[in-house]
Amino acid sequence: TADPTELGRLAEEIAREAGDMLVAKRPTMSGAVATKSSPTDVVTVLDTASERLIRDRILEARPEDRILGEEGGEAPGETDVRWIVDPIDGTVNFLYGLPDWAVSIAVEVEGTVVAGAVNVPARGEMFTAVRGHGAWLGGERLRCATGVPLAQALVATGFGYGVARRAVQGRVVAEVLPRVRDIRRGGSCAIDLCSVAARRVDGYYERGINPWDYAAAGLVATESGATLAGLRGRPVSPDFAICAAPGLFEELHDLLAPLDPDRDAD
Ligand code: IPD
Repeated sequence: TADPTELGRLAEEIAREAGDMLVAKRPTMSGAVATKSSPTDVVTVLDTASERLIRDRILEARPEDRILGEEGGEAPGETDVRWIVDPIDGTVNFLYGLPDWAVSIAVEVEGTVVAGAVNVPARGEMFTAVRGHGAWLGGERLRCATGVPLAQALVATGFGYGVARRAVQGRVVAEVLPRVRDIRRGGSCAIDLCSVAARRVDGYYERGINPWDYAAAGLVATESGATLAGLRGRPVSPDFAICAAPGLFEELHDLLAPLDPDRDAD
């Protein structure tokens, strides 16, 4: 079977190649955009091309593994290794030429994420983590901020694409904003989670993200010392994610739990 460090190296190598391709091809992309679940939910031809490249590279190296990707869905395989791929996280930033978009590749063994790579090509940054071996930005070990009280916390969040969900998220933001230092909406869940690890924000929360958004960056965050979980003792899931150092995590949780209804707003 597979060594997590080796799997992590492969994830990093493939995320780098996909990022290079996206940087090279982005200038020629104009107009090549389709919408998905709603008019705000876009997919570019380069999302598809990036995922194809990533799937091809994974299967060249490890033909028996399973792959879950944002655009191509679940591909079956024979091993207990599953790759979780977001070919472009932060598609709207990518579309507008903003730098905060990422290629995210996580590797799961028997249902546990053991390695992840989040490549942010427009910033020349590669975040990596291997379970039990820390979180890294290039060669620099990352440790999230600790001891920050809620009132002084810079908190990142994001908004899903569904209109009903956005209305709820707007109401939640209205309650959170007066109680924290400030809020950031960076536009990429993967980068938001890496930003917790890199002390660029103190915490993050969002309803309605997907495994490909958080699988790799979630490991970067937890390996930096942060807690990543859902509401009321549940694990992180597409339902809800809160990420912050212990202490701030509980404060954020206790603020958000009564504000956000359990049911899906969509
Ligand atoms: C989106 C981004 C965004 C988050 C959305 C995600 P995509 O992913 O991560 O920050 O707020 O919930 O869907 O569509 O750019 O891959």
